[in-house]
Amino acid sequence: MQRTLTIETPAKVGDKVLLLGWVDKRRDHGKIVFIDLRDRSGIIQLVLTGEIPRLSLEDVIEVEGAVKARPPKLVNPKIATGNVEIEVLKLTIISKSIELPFPIDNDGYDIEEELRMKYRYLDIRRSRMFKNLQLRSQVTSFIRNFLTKKDFLEIETPMLTKTTPEGARDFIVPSRLQKGKFYALPQSPQQYKQLLMVAGVERYFQIVRCFRDEDPRADRAYGEFTQLDLEMSFVTQEDILILTEELFTTLIAEVFPDKHITQSPWPRLAHKDVVQKYGSDKPDLRQNKKDPDELAFAWILDFPLFAKQSQEDFFHGSGSAKFAPSHHMFTAPHPDDIKYLDSDPLKVRGLQHDLVLNGYEVGGGSIRIHQNEIQDKVFDLIGFTTEQKKQFSHMQTAFTYGAPPHGGIAPGIDRFMMAVLSEPSVREVMAFPTSASGITSVMEAPSSASPQQLDELGIRIINAKK
Ligand code: AMO
Repeated sequence: MQRTLTIETPAKVGDKVLLLGWVDKRRDHGKIVFIDLRDRSGIIQLVLTGEIPRLSLEDVIEVEGAVKARPPKLVNPKIATGNVEIEVLKLTIISKSIELPFPIDNDGYDIEEELRMKYRYLDIRRSRMFKNLQLRSQVTSFIRNFLTKKDFLEIETPMLTKTTPEGARDFIVPSRLQKGKFYALPQSPQQYKQLLMVAGVERYFQIVRCFRDEDPRADRAYGEFTQLDLEMSFVTQEDILILTEELFTTLIAEVFPDKHITQSPWPRLAHKDVVQKYGSDKPDLRQNKKDPDELAFAWILDFPLFAKQSQEDFFHGSGSAKFAPSHHMFTAPHPDDIKYLDSDPLKVRGLQHDLVLNGYEVGGGSIRIHQNEIQDKVFDLIGFTTEQKKQFSHMQTAFTYGAPPHGGIAPGIDRFMMAVLSEPSVREVMAFPTSASGITSVMEAPSSASPQQLDELGIRIINAKK
């Protein structure tokens, strides 16, 4: 017999079915026992009489049974299969479960995070987590369809690469073939997507992992997170804003039909004005902050190209510069302000756009520099040494071969999901996140390398954490 999902049972009253799943709940009434069987589609009530096997919660079972309509007064309107139940004819235990380390029939917020991470595969059994992952999958699948229909190519870029600074420390990976040298994991595919524009791709996107060694916060994952990275050639900033707005507006209507957007078209605010008015460059513009179904998107524009700060914070190493890029060093200056680059750099606006949702910065992007003279000037202003410039010489080499004007944006998938679902942390929308203390879920990395591995890499540990 073919498997039936619990959600399919209401359409099969009178049929015999085969069900597979977990024991979610058990209610004993002496000679009659009710079991809730859970599968990926939901739950169904099983009715057992006669000889009843010893079942524990979370055992995996196989059930052959008959689908019966429940008498009207026993219908449970709270579950999708509440008008039927299964009269069990045969029940087989496929796999036993010992007692779980924490309950999974609640929202789980009160359980210690380290414990939830250690047993994340159990934590995901709770319906809130499973639903979050389901919605996340619907979101990425919607994005792929939307962009592919608009002629974008999804292209993978390397994970073992050179530094691409986005304001955090790099994760580095030692090379065995080139002893003493290191790859950096990308903080974003920024340089590769620009190189793809030089390559003539014109419309690129990637749902991509980014790696940043920076202190975690509720809205900032430690280690790795996911971006929808996209880039287009021959576009204005306006084109990027319009495409992004259409993408998210149609996405919300399809995947989150119960949510409403506060204001459409999204308000566009100047950086200086929002900072003055709200004391923040990511204001929460919801009309009613208690309404979990309200989504207040906004664009923040006209950022200054540079912030006045030690470059050390931005690109670890130098420390001599007066200016750091407000977004990143590939962001183009506003054409009207290029004249101030020499005389008054802090006056120059950048063609940067930040996407804000309910008080979170869920995306950032810009029109890029595609002229070497301007890139050179920006490198100088952020205090790059000749050596540091050399690290990015491939970009300037590429720009000598006919570089199209280009720009893009990268909304963070985790942060977007967190904001839409009003979750308190990005970790609630990631399957296997790293904990706030930098320990990965379940596998508990980082761990030591064997002496042989270190030997092959030519590495000696001089200061290990006990
Ligand atoms: P930026 O550094 O602003 O831009 O990142 C873009 C978006 O990525 C998300 N994000 C994060 N999400 C979770 N955890 C983190 N640690 C984290 N860091 C960033 C945010 C943020 O808005 N290459 C540029 C984009 C571009 O210019 O096209 C970039 O990475 O939602």
